[in-house]
Amino acid sequence: MKRGKLIVFEGVDGSGKSTQLRRAAAVLRSRGVDVLETGEPTKGLWGRKIREMARTTDRVPRETELAWFIKDRREHMRDTVEPALVAGRIVLCDRSYFSTVAYQGARGFDPAKLLADSQAEFGRPDRMLFFDIDPEEGLARVAARGGPHEPAFEELNYLEQVAEIFRSLQVAERVRIDAARDEESIAEDVMAAIDEVLEREDPNREEKD
Ligand code: TYD
Repeated sequence: MKRGKLIVFEGVDGSGKSTQLRRAAAVLRSRGVDVLETGEPTKGLWGRKIREMARTTDRVPRETELAWFIKDRREHMRDTVEPALVAGRIVLCDRSYFSTVAYQGARGFDPAKLLADSQAEFGRPDRMLFFDIDPEEGLARVAARGGPHEPAFEELNYLEQVAEIFRSLQVAERVRIDAARDEESIAEDVMAAIDEVLEREDPNREEKD
């Protein structure tokens, strides 16, 4: 069985990555591709703790917050992502360790060390789609869609720093997507970036089209 592909969707809150992930999954499924939609924080024990914390105004120490994200990811990669890749599936993941680099980096941890440690433990995805948007616009979108507010992360000054780290990340697998445009144009760029990954391993694809 040929190993699957891991494509991660990253960006600040309200950048539209989750909407685009669902759209991309639907397009791939309509072509008969076996897709797994997943994301972090997960719905598991650590993910639930993180969401609980994010939705209150009580802060936990940044060390604790970082530890929870890493434990959540460790379980997610081991129990969900890796088995899907082994089974040859295309995994679309809403956030991954680049979020730790950017969000916990903005709490004062060294982003370069967070990145190096993450790469050493979890390897590198086949693509990282970075949905670049002005955090102010992202926050406006978050407010407009309603749903639970997460005061731990949804604060403008903080998200400006998060966005800055996302923008300065130097990883070859990153594709920057201008997320300030309309949903259709963004979806086109997303599919182009995903197709590039899928075609890379499938030299016969053109003949089949
Ligand atoms: P989010 O994707 O918004 O989840 P949901 O909308 O399902 O609640 O993630 C919640 C918050 O967690 C978001 O503001 C970003 C933050 N976060 C980190 O700070 N570090 C991480 O490693 C991850 C995965 C998320």
